Amino acid sequence: MSATPACAQIGVIGMAVMGSNLARNLAHHGYRTAIYNRTTATTVKVAHDFPQEGFVVAESLPEFVASLERPRRMILMVKAGVATDATIDALIPLLDKDDIIVDGGNSFFQDTRRREARLRDLGLHFVGSGISGGEVGALEGPAIMPGGSQHSYHYVGRILEDISAKYEGEPCCAHIGPDGAGHFVKMIHNGIEYADMQFIGEAYELLRAAGFTTREAADIFATWNTGDLSSYLIEITAEVLRHDDPTTGLPLVDVITDAAGMKGTGTWTVQEALNLGVPASTIAEAVFARATSSSPELRAAGQEALTGPDQHIEVEDRDEFTEQVRQALWASKVVAYAQGLDEIRVGAEEYGWSIDVASVARIWRAGCIIRARLLDRIANEYAANHLVTLLEAPSIAEGLAQAQVSWRRVVASAVEAGVPAPGFASALTYYDQVRAPRLNAALTQGLRDFFGAHTYRRIDRPGSFHTLWSDDRSEVRVSD
Ligand code: 6PG
Repeated sequence: MSATPACAQIGVIGMAVMGSNLARNLAHHGYRTAIYNRTTATTVKVAHDFPQEGFVVAESLPEFVASLERPRRMILMVKAGVATDATIDALIPLLDKDDIIVDGGNSFFQDTRRREARLRDLGLHFVGSGISGGEVGALEGPAIMPGGSQHSYHYVGRILEDISAKYEGEPCCAHIGPDGAGHFVKMIHNGIEYADMQFIGEAYELLRAAGFTTREAADIFATWNTGDLSSYLIEITAEVLRHDDPTTGLPLVDVITDAAGMKGTGTWTVQEALNLGVPASTIAEAVFARATSSSPELRAAGQEALTGPDQHIEVEDRDEFTEQVRQALWASKVVAYAQGLDEIRVGAEEYGWSIDVASVARIWRAGCIIRARLLDRIANEYAANHLVTLLEAPSIAEGLAQAQVSWRRVVASAVEAGVPAPGFASALTYYDQVRAPRLNAALTQGLRDFFGAHTYRRIDRPGSFHTLWSDDRSEVRVSD
């Protein structure tokens, strides 16, 4: 039906596949849903393709706004960035006090903070909401991470919880915190997604280097998916590896160009980690690994000039090696979660949000791309303990203690054979760094003091000190 005044409970703007699937999801949950796309033909086609959804079709933005019950609730599913700002600009003159705009795109959280403040000044509400799960998730139940005022959550929370994925009956949606908190958490989700995929790629390469065929590797991933590593990404890895290219008959993965793309959310996670001073090294390695893969000139020069081992790993006991790789993968994955959750903790302090990490882990248990069995354990650990880092959680620390011998062997084998495994190696390095009683930073401080009089602190008394390096090398106390 076309729009009649104020008959829709909610509206969706942007009818690309994520938007149309989310609108269908809303309709499936009994919400009368208005739809609008800048190109009317697209809106009409969606309504035509899915007549059973009973969409309220709006051909213009004023018509769309007029079709919504008050306070008006609308979800933007448009491209992050300029398109989102342009849509908000066009909506503002059409809205009334207390109307609520939900941005369901992958927006940068600082943009969300800016937009929320602007709309708040106008008496409107803005909910920056991370939505994860891809096209299928949007239709069947994504994980939803809404940020914004309590007031706005009162009006949209119920709807978002209804359409979200469910983990043992619990909605994978909860109010994350004010302004940019939801998009911040979605950004971290994506950073962890990058690391997860990098680890999976490394595990696959190591199995191949040890002589396993792609088909055998697929079976190994399928088996791993029945245990501690059980997760959506491990499950679909087995599927991707099992798929043969119809043209060549080769495993598809062997004919896909080895240059990984990225839209940028992983990069944001790392940039923000640098801003906050949070060592998110596994996520950084994952972003850099994609960048390296997509640098043809660098790789051509390297292949031409550099020598090294032949990237073959001699394995005596295949089952033992497989188990070692499994443990390295699990331990590395834990470190990536620890780093991502640490960034949430520090980000929340910096921006004045109080984010319940247990609740974030609960949201991620179903619907989203990083959904994994491990997340239930993480949620329980955060609920039961006050944790500075996930790594100190009793069951996690114990798991890492058990995995670490294998983890070290796998990293050592990779290094020795010349198989790049930056994710596994940096995860292990982080583990060793945070547990070390003393780090090499003392020498760094000595050097900084030598060349720049940057001062250092001493372990045996308070204050900042400087050594007169170019004089008699006596020490002066510079401040308390
Ligand atoms: C999700 C995904 C989704 C998208 C990423 C892919 O949670 O549903 O993370 O947001 O697939 O943007 O990101 P890259 O193109 O950067 O790999």
